Amino acid sequence: MNKCAVHKISGVTEPSTRAAYDSVASLYAELFGNVLDTLPLERALLAAFADLVRAGGNGQVADVGCGPGHVTAHLRGLGLDVFGTDLSPEMIAIARRAHPDLRFDVGSMTALDLADGVLGGVLANYSFIHTPPAQLPAVFAEFARVLAPGGHLLLGFFAGDDPEPLEFDHKVAPAYWWSPESLANLVGQAGFVEVARLVRAANEGERGPQGQLLMRRQA
Ligand SMILES: C[S@@+](CC[C@H](N)C(=O)[O-])C[C@H]1O[C@@H](n2cnc3c(N)ncnc32)[C@H](O)[C@@H]1O
Repeated sequence: MNKCAVHKISGVTEPSTRAAYDSVASLYAELFGNVLDTLPLERALLAAFADLVRAGGNGQVADVGCGPGHVTAHLRGLGLDVFGTDLSPEMIAIARRAHPDLRFDVGSMTALDLADGVLGGVLANYSFIHTPPAQLPAVFAEFARVLAPGGHLLLGFFAGDDPEPLEFDHKVAPAYWWSPESLANLVGQAGFVEVARLVRAANEGERGPQGQLLMRRQA
């Protein structure tokens, strides 16, 4: 696994992440806009997430760090009332153009513009990976705040095996490998219980295993 990892925390900040994604937004949309077509295991977890949200009353879902909105649109196709939010105005502009029937807002996962307990689900697919680990408890607390009790959280991430999150030179902005166990423990501390975890082997061109973690907001 070519992780090129370091334990130290870089000076990554939201403004630097926003600028990095603004500068590659078109290319990102071109490269990844149809990626779900090639990812049956990710689609399976998204389908399970959608089933659970529907079974829990079909509350509104936020795709946090939605990028160009392709996963948001996939969730809409699964019958969810979903909107996307992202730090990058360029990403949001692309998402709005590609999916004019859906709502997309510029915003940070650290301070969602939502009242307490209003959501049935939160998806954070490879978006929290850029947040320095020390700041993640506040992010997961924010997800817990906006989710109704029993609501579901699905996380997509680069799956490592070191108990400590490891920073690596992600192509767009510094990011972290997380072990599923460490991530589940951290999210659990914000008031979630684990429903399922999945780690799949790297596909061609990927740098290592990929993980998904499905958690439920405690009542
Ligand atoms: C690797 S892309 C993933 C995009 C999309 N979720 C997907 O599955 O393709 C990471 C996205 O997270 C967004 N992001 C990073 N940090 C964020 C934050 N603190 N709040 C909101 N969005 C953030 C970036 O702007 C970028 O669009």
